[in-house]
Amino acid sequence: MLVRIIFAAMNISFTKQEQVIFEQIGAVAARLNMPCYLIGGFVRDKIIGRPVKDADIVCLGDGIELANAYAASLNPKPMVAFFKNFGTAQIKFNDFEIEFVGARKESYQQDSRKPAVEEGTIEDDQNRRDFTMNALAISLNSHDFGALSDPFNGIEAIASGLIKTPLEPIQTFSDDPLRMLRAIRFATQLGFSIEANTFKAIGENIHRMKIVSQERITDELNKIMLSEKPSIGWDLLWKSGLLKVILPQMLDLHGAVYIDGKGHKDNFYHTLEVLDNIAVHTHHLWLRWAALLHDIGKPATKKFEEGHGWTFHGHEVVGARMVPKIFGRLKLPLHEPMKYVQKLVLLHLRPISLTKENITDSAVRRLLFDAGDEIEDLMTLCSADITSKNKQKVKRYLQNFELVKERMIQVEETDRVRNWQPPISGELVMEVFGLTPGKNVGIIKDAIREAILDGIIPNQFEAAYEFMLEKGEGLNLKPVK
Ligand code: CTP
Repeated sequence: MLVRIIFAAMNISFTKQEQVIFEQIGAVAARLNMPCYLIGGFVRDKIIGRPVKDADIVCLGDGIELANAYAASLNPKPMVAFFKNFGTAQIKFNDFEIEFVGARKESYQQDSRKPAVEEGTIEDDQNRRDFTMNALAISLNSHDFGALSDPFNGIEAIASGLIKTPLEPIQTFSDDPLRMLRAIRFATQLGFSIEANTFKAIGENIHRMKIVSQERITDELNKIMLSEKPSIGWDLLWKSGLLKVILPQMLDLHGAVYIDGKGHKDNFYHTLEVLDNIAVHTHHLWLRWAALLHDIGKPATKKFEEGHGWTFHGHEVVGARMVPKIFGRLKLPLHEPMKYVQKLVLLHLRPISLTKENITDSAVRRLLFDAGDEIEDLMTLCSADITSKNKQKVKRYLQNFELVKERMIQVEETDRVRNWQPPISGELVMEVFGLTPGKNVGIIKDAIREAILDGIIPNQFEAAYEFMLEKGEGLNLKPVK
């Protein structure tokens, strides 16, 4: 009864579609004599008031059997996807996904990723869940439909924004060490804190992460990256010690060194500030990764120069070279996304350097040419990279940035170098001088491109044709027509 009252007071409401689906599942489960419950993220997010798009249903019996029987009761009958090894089944409606699983008493072997699964009661199943807020269950059974079961004070944990394991943290984490990272991910997504004992256990069990597959780890990292304030997650990774096993290159960014009273920024926290800045402007996962990695080359290039202070010359080049290795380690996609991040890391200083000098059209043209389609994202990254305690300084930089952007629009309007299409093709060069493919064709094409970028000639066919003839003469080539 008490739980019912709490449930009502929590104001959990199902949508019409959810209500219909859950009542039907409850009825089918009753026929099979298989009590069933909503559990996990669905219940948690309903209580918090976050949108839900999938629901986990745990039943006392065979989840696949329940899913099949429920599907058979519908017209038209939906597809059931099942994973026999895990004893789970999935039914997808347009924008809603339901997963069925039998209640388990699960134990993991210490050095194996494979769980030995044993059937269990609903309490067993709640015991083996990761966090108290994820162990809440709602009954779908007719005698107490909608009743909430909260054996570990999950409601209280949610109310006080606390992430806590239901059992001793060491036990919960050794069942699945990924949960250490999940704690950090939930803390980032929900803005919750990790309870002290739970957090301490993460620090003590870092070595256990090595049995977790990189794909699962990276999934969690991407969820951290897509959160409203991703810095929370990266800071907790650092503070817990997990960063060392997950992305040690980031660790080297930490700390500020002082020589002769001169220090440099703590590049780790600067990076996190840039990441949060960019998260305000974009949900683009790879642009956020570019923000995280933009200064990754700094530790390797750090130097103290007498009379000058700290320098990081070439860190953008070194950083760009590090990107493929980091993507490889994290099993992030090595094709387009990696190249995109690498390009942004390489170019991240260019727009800012334009604000420091008298901007020439040719510098703007070269940047448009080099950045191509990524120019807007590069500008977003660079705006995010302007961090300083001095608000006036940031404001001044951002104003200069607007000038650079205006100039870019003007230059692009006249010169169209952003999506570079050479005005003279290699075929035409060969035809005009009677050449076969070879070095001279490349020399002439490159010279035309450089002349356009330097503003020596406009980006037009006639001017480029004239320039080609001149360049050919310089190479002792004669037009054959
Ligand atoms: N779970 C767990 N241990 C894990 C993964 C999941 O105990 N390593 C349990 C939790 O009860 C969790 C539920 O399985 O709530 C569903 O897991 P999942 O879909 O991964 O997470 P959600 O909690 O639903 O959250 P999200 O959808 O944001 O990932």
